[in-house]
Amino acid sequence: MKLNRREAIKLGLTGVGGLLLPLESSNSALAQTLSNCPDFPRVENPPPTFKQEELSHQIPRFQYPLKRLRLLEPVHSYEGGERPLDCYEITMKKAQVDIIPGLKTEIWGYEGIFPGPVIRQRGGFRDEDQGRDTLVRFINRLGTFEENGTEVPINTSVHLHGMASLPQYDGYAEDLIRPCYFKDYFYPNDRAATIWYHDHAIDRTSRNVYMGLAGMYIVEDEEERRFNLPQGEYDVPLILQDMRIADDGSLIFNDRGQRSLYGDISLVNGVPWPCMKVARRKYRFRVLNASTSRTYDLVLSKKENGLTFGERIYVIGSDCGLLGAPVELTSPLQTLVIAPAERYEFVIDFSQYDLDTDLYLRNPGFINSSNIDSDARMQTIMRFYVDRDEPDNSSLPQKLRDIKRLDPNKAVTTRKFRFERSSTQWLINNKRWNKNRVDANPKPGAIEIWELSNNGGWMHPVHIHFVDWQILDRNGRKPLAYERGWKDVFRIDHFETVRVIAEFGRRNGDYIEGKFMMHCHNLVHEDHSMMTQFEVGKNGPSPCSAPALPI
Ligand code: C2O
Ligand code: CU
Ligand code: CU
Repeated sequence: MKLNRREAIKLGLTGVGGLLLPLESSNSALAQTLSNCPDFPRVENPPPTFKQEELSHQIPRFQYPLKRLRLLEPVHSYEGGERPLDCYEITMKKAQVDIIPGLKTEIWGYEGIFPGPVIRQRGGFRDEDQGRDTLVRFINRLGTFEENGTEVPINTSVHLHGMASLPQYDGYAEDLIRPCYFKDYFYPNDRAATIWYHDHAIDRTSRNVYMGLAGMYIVEDEEERRFNLPQGEYDVPLILQDMRIADDGSLIFNDRGQRSLYGDISLVNGVPWPCMKVARRKYRFRVLNASTSRTYDLVLSKKENGLTFGERIYVIGSDCGLLGAPVELTSPLQTLVIAPAERYEFVIDFSQYDLDTDLYLRNPGFINSSNIDSDARMQTIMRFYVDRDEPDNSSLPQKLRDIKRLDPNKAVTTRKFRFERSSTQWLINNKRWNKNRVDANPKPGAIEIWELSNNGGWMHPVHIHFVDWQILDRNGRKPLAYERGWKDVFRIDHFETVRVIAEFGRRNGDYIEGKFMMHCHNLVHEDHSMMTQFEVGKNGPSPCSAPALPI
C-alpha cells in the first residue's frame, strides 16, 4: 500500500513536521519514534502550606468593554486531496498585558495574548460538510520562571480538549515541548463543537493555564449551519476565568496548599467584569469555564446584586456539540451550572427587553457547595446593555441535533473509578499518576459504562479524553435536562456516583487505539495527582511517538 503524506499523517505513521516552513530543516535526526516518554525531573510536591490570601487591587465593575477574541488565520492551506488541510502557527510566549488598566500583568500566552486566539474550522465527514483537517505548530518561546530561587524551564504540552486526536497529538502530559522546541499537532475536526486548547504539562498544568495558556477552538459543520442560529458577530465566545492580581500587577498563584485556586477578579475573555453592548435580537453565546477550580452557576438578572423573575436563556449545546433540543432555563431558580472545562452554549433573545435595559450574567452560588470560596464580588460576572435595534433573521429551532442514545444493555463492561483525597494527595482508586501504568483497557469499538464516584469533601469535574460520552444517571436519578447531550466533563458532586457511557471509536467510524488520560479538571487536583490513563486496544502509537523538535 502506498500512502500519500496526508493519509500517513492520519494513520499516525509519520511526524507532521515537514509540512510547514521554515522550521523544518532541523527535523530529521530527531524525528525518531520513541516508544516511551523520556524521564525528566518531576516536581516533588512540597509540603502543603496554606498561604494567607492576598486581595486583588479593587477596580470598577461592568464598565470595561467585552473583548472580541482574535481569530487566527492559517499560514498555509492545502486544497485538494480527499480533505483539505489548514496549517496554523502559534508561538507561546510571555507578554505584558493590561488586564487592569494602568497596571502591567505578565501572562504566558498563545501568541502572547490572553486568552489565546480562536481557531474556527469546518469539520464533519459528510460530503456536504466540506470538512477540513488542521495542523497547528506550537512553538515554545516561554523560557524560564523563578520558583523558590531557581530558574525552572516552562515546559508545555498542548491538549485540544474535545477533539478525538491520535495519542501522539493529544497533549499527553509527559510529551513535553521544552522552551526552544516546537511540536506539530494534527487534528481531524471530526464533528462540530465548541472545544478548547490548553496546556497539559505534567505537574504544571494549573500554573500554566492560570498564567494564560488557554484558547477556544470552534468546529462547525453543515447541519449546524442549516439551523440558522445567530452567526457572525452574534455568535460570541465567552471564556470565564478567575484570577488574583497583586498591587504591582503580577498574577498571584495561590493554590491554598494544593487544594484549589480561587481568584477574586472575575474575567470574561480576559476582561474583568466586562460590559457588552447588545442589540434587541438573538445572540448565541459559547461559554467555556477555563477557571482552575471555580464552578459557576449562571443565571440572567436585571439586577446587579439580586435576582429578578422570568429572564430566560435557551441552552442549545454542551461540551461535544448541540443538544437534541433547546432547554429553556428561567430565572431565578433555573440556573446553568458550569464546572471547570465544561462548555455550554445558549441563546439569549434580547428583543424581549426595552432599549436601555441592563442585564447581568450572575453567579448566585446556589450550587456553590463546590466552591470553597464566598467572595460576593464573584457573584456577578458581566453586564449586557441593550443599546440598539437590529434586524434578526436567525432562528431558534425547536429541535436540534439527533442524539442517538447509547444503550446500556450493549455495554460490555462497567468500570469503577473513585475520586478521593488521602491526607496530602488527590487520587483515583487510591493511586497517583504513573505513566507506566494503565488502569483500563477498552477494546476498539466497545461500548462501556464508567462509574465515577466521589466520597465527599470536594466536587470533582472529571474529564475523559478521546471519546464523547452520555450521562446515564446521577446517584440513580436522571441527569439535568441540559446534561443529556454529548459530554466530556462530568461534575461529580459530594457523595455522588455518576454513570457515563461511551463507544470507543471515532465519529467517522474509524477505530483509534492508544493511551489517553482521564483526570479531575480542577487543575490543582490534576497536578497532585488525580490523573490516570486508559489504553484503547493494544496496538496504538505511543503518545510520545511524535516528540517536539528543537527550533
Ligand atoms: Cu482539558 Cu486533559 O484536559
Ligand atoms: Cu480532553
Ligand atoms: Cu478534583
